[in-house]
Amino acid sequence: MDKLWGGRFQGKNEQWIDEFGASISFDQKLAEQDILGSLAHVRMLANTEILPAEEAQQIISGLEKLQQRLKDGTLHFSVANEDIHLNIEKMLHEEIGSVAGKLHTARSRNDQVATDMHLYLKETVLEIIDKLHHLRTTFVNKATEHVATIAPGYTHLQHAQPISFGHHLLAYYQMLTRDYERFSESVKRIDLSPLGSAALAGTTFPIDRQFTATELGFTNVYANTLDAVSDRDFILEFLSNASFLMMHLSRFCEEIILWCSYEFQYIELTDTFSTGSSIMPQKKNPDMAELIRGKTGRVYGHLFGLLTLMKGLPLAYNKDFQEDKEGMFDTSETILACLSIIDGMVQTMNVNKARMYAATQNDFSNATELADYLAAKGLPFRQAHEIVGKLVLRCTQQGGYLQDIPLQEYQTISPLIEEDIYDALRPETAVKRRNSLGGTGFDQVQQQIEVAMAQLQAEKNQP
Ligand code: ARG
Repeated sequence: MDKLWGGRFQGKNEQWIDEFGASISFDQKLAEQDILGSLAHVRMLANTEILPAEEAQQIISGLEKLQQRLKDGTLHFSVANEDIHLNIEKMLHEEIGSVAGKLHTARSRNDQVATDMHLYLKETVLEIIDKLHHLRTTFVNKATEHVATIAPGYTHLQHAQPISFGHHLLAYYQMLTRDYERFSESVKRIDLSPLGSAALAGTTFPIDRQFTATELGFTNVYANTLDAVSDRDFILEFLSNASFLMMHLSRFCEEIILWCSYEFQYIELTDTFSTGSSIMPQKKNPDMAELIRGKTGRVYGHLFGLLTLMKGLPLAYNKDFQEDKEGMFDTSETILACLSIIDGMVQTMNVNKARMYAATQNDFSNATELADYLAAKGLPFRQAHEIVGKLVLRCTQQGGYLQDIPLQEYQTISPLIEEDIYDALRPETAVKRRNSLGGTGFDQVQQQIEVAMAQLQAEKNQP
């Protein structure tokens, strides 16, 4: 079959080499964007009188037919036509004849492919921003149900201090808010049109780049044509933001997986988000959470793949760029799916409050309370720490916990300790009293919820 770029070639093509060079198996995902880009381009060619109006109209009608066929699923892509751009052009030729050849006036596949990817990514990122808003709302709603739910707080995965479970959920709200902001701030760097840069140097035709940018809904145009066709920063930034997001989701999934285990039993996932075992009938595995944790690896991989691909490339276009797409598609699809799954999982998970509370009962997570109690009565904190440490050791040797030590014994250790110590040692008191800004105290958690809700509301009101 004749190549659209075949003029200067004499040798015949080899199927297996064509296959190696082709991208149509994956870049057909850009078909819609490619046709939109061509429509904008040909309208501009008519508007600037580079093409006569009737020829432009023939091309527009042909492209609109292809748009319809894409919807109907009747476009037939072929490896012989290499990539999405040449496939569409070939099919346009089949629809309208040789006038199709005028579409590529003042254009190159280099600015065409960059335009397609900007269009694709802008849509994806706006969708991600939307889903992140929704997921953050889910976290805040769940936190609202659990302001007063007492849970063990951990450091080193050891019981540290009791906290409000709502506080724990709100920590994820904050992480996801940073992700939301990162994606939102990246939009202005995606929302740029490379179209009209042609191969690298611009064109001799009197084109109107602002016209095509506006047609395609881009806010601005790239200032430098060489940069426009060579830039993949917008994809790298996307992959980097996606990596942060996946890292956060993965951390949460790791906690979900722990909390579902027999040892913890802090939460139970609904059947929808769990799977069974083909051999062990009792099993209810948190597969969806494990998969999200697992998929984080491929997203990081795509980021490093593209960073490595870019680091040695001279300006402007290099065929290496063709390798930028699969990672972008895969990351987009992965992120969108993970956001939906985790949202449903958080909404429907059952929190075992009694179990969480019990975990803060027979432990030493109230040790800081006793030290703080003594420090508040004037004992230097370091001395208080030492005394409590000794008491914990005594308990581990003789059995029992701090709340089980009789007052008499306490008073032989320090006359500062009075009857009210037993209330101070209760997990509820411990949580309630941590009322410093951003802390786990019930009032502080409630305050954080109000700020979060106002934030979410303000985002909704944005244009
Ligand atoms: N399929 C190519 C890619 O994805 C399109 C651009 C081809 N440009 C070129 N000069 N060969 O990068």
